[in-house]
Amino acid sequence: MRTPIIAGNWKMHKTVNEALDYFASFKGAAKEGVEIVLCVPFPALYPLAKEAKGTGIGIGAQNMHFEEAGAFTGEVSPGMLTSLGVEYVILGHSERRTLFGETDEAVNQKVQAAVKHGLTPIICVGETLEEREEDRTREIVRDQVVKAISGFRSEEVKKMVLAYEPVWAIGSGKASTAEDAQEVIQFIRNVVADQYDQQVANEIRIQYGGSVKPNNIDSFLAQPDIDGALVGGASLDPESFGQLVAAA
Ligand code: G3P
Repeated sequence: MRTPIIAGNWKMHKTVNEALDYFASFKGAAKEGVEIVLCVPFPALYPLAKEAKGTGIGIGAQNMHFEEAGAFTGEVSPGMLTSLGVEYVILGHSERRTLFGETDEAVNQKVQAAVKHGLTPIICVGETLEEREEDRTREIVRDQVVKAISGFRSEEVKKMVLAYEPVWAIGSGKASTAEDAQEVIQFIRNVVADQYDQQVANEIRIQYGGSVKPNNIDSFLAQPDIDGALVGGASLDPESFGQLVAAA
């Protein structure tokens, strides 16, 4: 009953012209019953949001600040994003957490700002290889989820998207097995049920991310708790991202 959501995270790739060329060949991939999102660098947001109008493809940012405005050199506010026609924002990606020192508290503040502005947050959580080897996956993921989604009304949580991205699987070509991802994602759903209630847990969508490719996406989508994918590398080529959408 949950609509699958396939989101591409381009990270720091593509100029505006490259983004427009990509969109021209990708837009035909839109598919009934699948939510499709392209999370692109800031400069490409406005031109793509204009192109995407009416195509059934949503445009998302990859980060934002939680303040409305102010002396925050280099930052972009939620209101600036919505004014461009942006509807989604990735928050708490592991690259933001590790390379830019983003804390769980900051992620929560950003989720609050996103919800306030009507942006759908795609909230990333996941353990490092070291944490997995120490058998701390559940503890880490639980902590990240609880902190990110605390302080909301049930109605707001239902509309959020969570993405389980084990850090060791990101860009490594070593995806999690679908069974392991299912186990952690089912656990995350139980955490949401503990924090809110079973109905919220049943409705919130949870993606898997980390080396998702056309040749492994089916195994993830076949899992009962996995509602789609957050895709890095394989979203950079319109043909391969189109294949991922077609699989959903
Ligand atoms: O946010 C998506 C990402 O971190 C996964 O990247 O390249 O492993 O698909 P990739």
